[in-house]
Amino acid sequence: MDCVDLDALEAEARRVMSPPAWVFCDTGADDEIIAKENVTAWRKLRLRPRMLRDIVKIDTSVTLLGQRVAAPLMVAPTGRHHLFHPQGERETARGAAAAGALYVMSTSGATLVEDVAKERGSAPQWFQLYMQPDREETGKLLDRCAAVGFTALVLTVDQPVPGWSPRAFRTPVIANDKVRSVNMPGQPVARTAYDPDRKGVVMFPTAWRDLEWLVKRCSMPVVVKGVLRGDDAARCVDAGVKGIMVSNHGGRHLDTTVTTADVIAEVVGAVGRNAEVYVDGGIRRGTDVLKALALGARAVLLGRPPLWGLAVNGAAGVEAVMEHFREELIRAMQLCGAANLADVTPDLVAGA
Ligand SMILES: Cc1cc2nc3c(=O)[nH]c(=O)nc-3n(C[C@H](O)[C@H](O)[C@H](O)COP(=O)(O)O)c2cc1C
Repeated sequence: MDCVDLDALEAEARRVMSPPAWVFCDTGADDEIIAKENVTAWRKLRLRPRMLRDIVKIDTSVTLLGQRVAAPLMVAPTGRHHLFHPQGERETARGAAAAGALYVMSTSGATLVEDVAKERGSAPQWFQLYMQPDREETGKLLDRCAAVGFTALVLTVDQPVPGWSPRAFRTPVIANDKVRSVNMPGQPVARTAYDPDRKGVVMFPTAWRDLEWLVKRCSMPVVVKGVLRGDDAARCVDAGVKGIMVSNHGGRHLDTTVTTADVIAEVVGAVGRNAEVYVDGGIRRGTDVLKALALGARAVLLGRPPLWGLAVNGAAGVEAVMEHFREELIRAMQLCGAANLADVTPDLVAGA
């Protein structure tokens, strides 16, 4: 597997995935403007490296909600892993564990939370929730996650309705009776967000009162994913949230939002030390990771790249992608004169 360069891995993933799986993985919403700009926004930021520092030993370890991991890199929650590998989410969990990386499992999968938990290894796992209309059922799912050792609950709030992808409409994933969202009540047939049957359906209505309920009901700390504004982030913290994921969902639902690189500093400023802030969207290089950390993120999440690894080489592919990012981060830190994450400060980014 060519992990020297993620562009080559992406090209190989495109070759091995079925055309509908590739389009589902790759697409952004509407004109796909923000899906592309997420990537270029990090690349446009310029580094101000420090020289003559002691960088022989580099420590990339960090705690995420109190649990230590080898690097500030998480596998983002992404749905439908059976489109990319016959073992689905189980295989992803195995790869993340081999790399010592935190895996955020999505609600939208065909693997039971209990089976993903079995693959945990020494790295923590978090569970990502789309709020279900039935609170009692949602509560039962939270209890199952906590019982098998998931240590945080990530509530995604930026997809109350699915976005629209003309590309996915033209090359659709055909909903299949065998693939079900097994962790959801009634195990509905798994339909991707771009399935025409979902057009206009308010799938996951989630309002502040639901978040307040969730924080009270959930025994795990709650993280909110999909925040792009400081005022929303501050209100989440007031509601008892312990972590904020700055994300525009990889540009998959609302096109032409701000990029996450644009707003990470605003959100970090709004929450101060009251919550951890993470970021995703278009992070493809160790230098991108370093810039995100310098702007105040505690860790970053990677969405599409681990899926490319999963499709090309299963768990070993996911592991290779996470290791590749860690190696690139170490090199970027050494070249910028930062021996540990406390040295990765805003002055490393021009204009910050
Ligand atoms: C194929 C695919 C499926 C996704 N499914 C989910 C999901 O089920 N829940 C969620 O919160 N985010 C989902 N996301 C968004 C990711 O968690 C993440 O925010 C995004 O992919 C980050 O951008 P990147 O792919 O450029 O790294 C999905 C993304 C992709 C590419």
